[in-house]
Amino acid sequence: MKTKEMIAAEAIAILRANDRGGYTVPTAGLYPFQWNWDSAFCAMGFATFDEPRAWRELETLFSGQWEDGLVPHIIFHKPTDSYFPGPEVWGTPEVEGRPKSSGITQPPVAAIAARAIWERAQNKPLAEARMRELHPKLAASHRWWRRARDPQGTGLAALLHNWESGMDNSPVWDEALDRVPRTKTVYHRKDTGHVDASMRPRAIDYDRYVHLIETYRDVGWDPDRMWDAAPLKVAHIGVNAILLRAEMDLLVLSKAFGAVEEQREIAERISVKRDAIAKLWSPSFNAFQSFDLISNAAIDARTSAGFLPLITSAPSASQVKAMVIEMRRWRALSQVGMPTVAPNDPRFEGRRYWRGPVWPIVNWLLIDGLLMHGEAGLAEDLKRDTLSLFENKGFDEYFDPVDQTPCGGPNFSWSAATALWLLR
Ligand code: DGY
Repeated sequence: MKTKEMIAAEAIAILRANDRGGYTVPTAGLYPFQWNWDSAFCAMGFATFDEPRAWRELETLFSGQWEDGLVPHIIFHKPTDSYFPGPEVWGTPEVEGRPKSSGITQPPVAAIAARAIWERAQNKPLAEARMRELHPKLAASHRWWRRARDPQGTGLAALLHNWESGMDNSPVWDEALDRVPRTKTVYHRKDTGHVDASMRPRAIDYDRYVHLIETYRDVGWDPDRMWDAAPLKVAHIGVNAILLRAEMDLLVLSKAFGAVEEQREIAERISVKRDAIAKLWSPSFNAFQSFDLISNAAIDARTSAGFLPLITSAPSASQVKAMVIEMRRWRALSQVGMPTVAPNDPRFEGRRYWRGPVWPIVNWLLIDGLLMHGEAGLAEDLKRDTLSLFENKGFDEYFDPVDQTPCGGPNFSWSAATALWLLR
C-alpha cells in the first residue's frame, strides 16, 4: 500500500519529467507538443507544488493564441517528426514571434484553471501579477468561442472537428462523422506506433479526421468560411458544460481584473448558455445530450460527457439526483468509475480511447461538479476509484473500467495532475 505522499511524489516526478521547459507534453512519445486542455489541467497540478511553474504553463499555452482570440489545440513549440498531423499538414498562417499551431481548439479549461490557481495561491503578489496579464487573453478567447463557434448566439457552441472535443472517437461523433467524406490523401499515422491500435481510433475514423483538416485548410482557417464549409457541426455537451463553467469562472476573474462592460457581456453569455444547455436534458438518458446542428437533432449516445453539466449551475436539483442515480448504475457495472460509455451499452469498448475507458480528468471534473451540488457520497467514491488506479496501476492515459487494465500513453501528465489535485 502506498501512502498519499508516495503517490504525490510519483505524480510530481511525472510532471517534472514531461516538462519541456515551460510547457508540458501530455506523455513522451505519443504527444510531443503542448496540448490545450492537457496544459490547463497540468497547470493546476503544478500549482500544488510549484506556483511559478503553474503560471508559466498557462503563459506558454497563450503564447500560441491567434489575433482573433483562438487558443489552438496543439502548439508546436519544437519540431519533431514523431507525430501526425504535424504543422505541415495543418498549414496554418505563420506569424512572426508566434509558435506554429493547429487551426482548431479544444475544451476551454484555461479560465477554470486560472481561477482555481489564483484563488488558492500562496504567493499572492505573483498570482495578481500573472492574472493581470492573463485575464485579457482569457477574455479574448471566450469572445472567440462566441464569434467563431456560435455565430448566431444560440448559446450552444458547435465544434467543427471532433478533435475540438478532446473526446475524439466518442459515440457522440458516430453519426455526424459518418457523413464526412474520407480523405483521398495517403498519409501515415504515428499514434499506432506508440500505442496498441486496439486502444486508438480506427483507420476509417482517421480518414475523416484528416478530411476535416483539409477542408478548413482550403478556406485558410478563416472562422466564417470554416463555419460555412463545415460538414460537421456538433454542440458537444461536455465542451458546452466546460465552456459555461469557464464563463462562470471568467466572470469571477473579470470582477477582479476586468471592466464592468466586460462583466455584463460575460453574464449575458452565461444566461443564454445556461438556458440552451437546460434544453438538452434527456429524461430517458438521465443525462444531458449533445446536439447535431447539421441533422438538427439531439444525438443518441449515452456518454459520461452528458454528466459534465454538473460542473455548472445548469442542472436543476431533480436533474442532479437523476444523474447521480444513473452514474451509480454505470459504476455498479464496472470495477472502477466512471466509464465513458455505460458498460452495458452495445457501443461500449473498454479499452478503445473514448468508447468506454475511465479517464482520470473526467473523474476530476465529475468530482468537482458533484461537490458543487452537495453530492459528497458519489464524489468520495469516484475519488477513491481514481486514486486506487494511480496507486495500483500507474498514471496511464486511461483505464479499462471492467478489469482496470492501464491503456494509452504511460506516465501521463494530466493523470499525474489529477492525483495531485485530488490529494491536495
Ligand atoms: C490525437 O492526436 O489523438 C489527438 O487527440 C488530437 O488532438
